[in-house]
Amino acid sequence: MTKVLFVCLGNICRSPAAENIMNYLVDQAGLTGTIISDSAGTADYHVGDLPDSRMIATLTKRGFPAHGRGRQFKPSDFEDFDYILVMDQANYRDVLRLDPEGHYRHKVELITSYCRAHTLNAVPDPYYGGPEGFNQVIDLLVDACSVLLTTVKTEKA
Ligand code: 4NP
Repeated sequence: MTKVLFVCLGNICRSPAAENIMNYLVDQAGLTGTIISDSAGTADYHVGDLPDSRMIATLTKRGFPAHGRGRQFKPSDFEDFDYILVMDQANYRDVLRLDPEGHYRHKVELITSYCRAHTLNAVPDPYYGGPEGFNQVIDLLVDACSVLLTTVKTEKA
């Protein structure tokens, strides 16, 4: 079993979208239960909250599930997960701040490093923007998660 944790700031927009898209792709590939996804925020603003209603609506419209409740990233996540995939440079910095000795640095990656069809080097925060931002998040995450799925399958083969 491989465990993947997606991390953003609030854990109500980008990282829950990534978790749900990854779960969808894993199920479609017939790999349910072999790749387990979760998500977390570096901040505690939305602990216990559902995903943002705009993200739920956009995911649902595009055929993806939209489950989950907000939680904050915690140091034990470094040990518990095989891959820790952050959405932007601020998330990267905030996660690595909790690993001052760098023991888990190799597990932490920008999710956009998996993109093949897009060249952005972060998944932009859609929280303060319009509906097009939520669609852009999903476009980037479908690209990245598809490649991530292939990578995990290859590394575990
Ligand atoms: P996320 O978006 O990090 O993609 O979940 C945000 C959600 C909430 C806030 C910021 C970004 N906030 O400031 O409450």
